[in-house]
Amino acid sequence: MTSTQQIPSVEDVRAALKDVHDPEIRKPITDLGMVKDVTVDDGVVTVAVYLTVAGCPLKDTITKDTRAAVGKLDGVREVRVELDVMSDEQRTELRKQLRGDSAEPVIPFAQPGSMTRVYCVASGKGGVGKSSVTVNLAVAMAQRGLSVGVVDADIYGHSVPRMLGAREKPTKVEQMIMPPQAHGVKVISIGMFTPGNTPVVWRGPMLHRALQQFLADVFWGDLDILLLDLPPGTGDIAISVAQLIPNAEILVVTTPQQAAAEVAERAGAIAMQTRQRIAGVIENMSWLETPSGERMEIFGSGGGRTVAESLSKSVGTEVPLLGQVPLDPRLREQGDAGTPLVLAEPEAQASEVLRDVAKKLSVRARGLAGKMLNLSPSGR
Ligand SMILES: Nc1ncnc2c1ncn2[C@@H]1O[C@H](COP(=O)(O)OP(=O)(O)OP(=O)(O)O)[C@@H](O)[C@H]1O
Ligand SMILES: [Mg+2]
Repeated sequence: MTSTQQIPSVEDVRAALKDVHDPEIRKPITDLGMVKDVTVDDGVVTVAVYLTVAGCPLKDTITKDTRAAVGKLDGVREVRVELDVMSDEQRTELRKQLRGDSAEPVIPFAQPGSMTRVYCVASGKGGVGKSSVTVNLAVAMAQRGLSVGVVDADIYGHSVPRMLGAREKPTKVEQMIMPPQAHGVKVISIGMFTPGNTPVVWRGPMLHRALQQFLADVFWGDLDILLLDLPPGTGDIAISVAQLIPNAEILVVTTPQQAAAEVAERAGAIAMQTRQRIAGVIENMSWLETPSGERMEIFGSGGGRTVAESLSKSVGTEVPLLGQVPLDPRLREQGDAGTPLVLAEPEAQASEVLRDVAKKLSVRARGLAGKMLNLSPSGR
């Protein structure tokens, strides 16, 4: 070599590659066995990278990030990225590394040591705003620095991906499903596995199996919070969740209307049968503020309070009314546009209430709020 300029060594390049993360697994490619080879030839660095799957949709990101990380080193004139695909053995090895060696996928959130707080967003009646509340809470919690996942457990309704603006499809690495992310939230929905908008007609046992798969086969990483958007009513899915994750807590959503409140109470009552904790009640569509600042109570008043008091009496401990979310046409518009209100209109009163509820729910009963919870995916 004739150049007098300092040229990085292969070790320097490998060290720089620690900054390149696999966009799905979110770990350095150097830790995942994804760096196949590095050669340095007079300022021209060639990095060969193994993709986890052929046709990986995120290969452009990996290529760009690799170029950027290596290009920063002194003396690098050019970075060439060559892509290859892992063999089956390499993928198996990766799966073992990520989720342990157990043959049967386990639900990490149901393991005794799990630090993930699981909330099921439930209601008796449809259309009260469960999905809207779920996506806004998820984004607000992510804004607080928490690692958040959402399962759209409404197998028939599945509106969560659209409300979150999650357009990517999940990818599969070995037996693991990598959830797409939107606004810092990981999300999985049955809608991602059905072509177009085909309605899904599944019976109870299949629903149970689908949910089990969402919870066990999806590689969630270390989550602080998992939110499940349940279908309305007290059906099969609620029972399945209770069986699969007994420590999941229930969030009851209701409107101020008394009739809705009575139905919501019944939805809450199922938690007593399954011995799940009720984390609280959220009243949605509480009022509409007119331009003159007046509050119009379109759906009546008192529903949230009624449900909270009645559930408190039944369970014998206080079930709080966590917040009253006003009606705001922007909440619907932004939901349709895929940008939850707390992001699109952070100053809106509804956003303030939702942020406040998110804050209350981010506090762990055992005082672990804000701590980095360093869990292995298998929850041990
Ligand atoms: N506070 C609010 N202000 C204005 N619109 C709202 C509000 N909350 C929800 N909506 C709108 O009401 C409709 C129903 O909300 P959403 O889909 O979140 O309810 P849901 O309980 O999940 O319904 P389903 O039972 O069908 O799953 C949506 O169009 C949503 O945008
Ligand atoms: Mg819904």
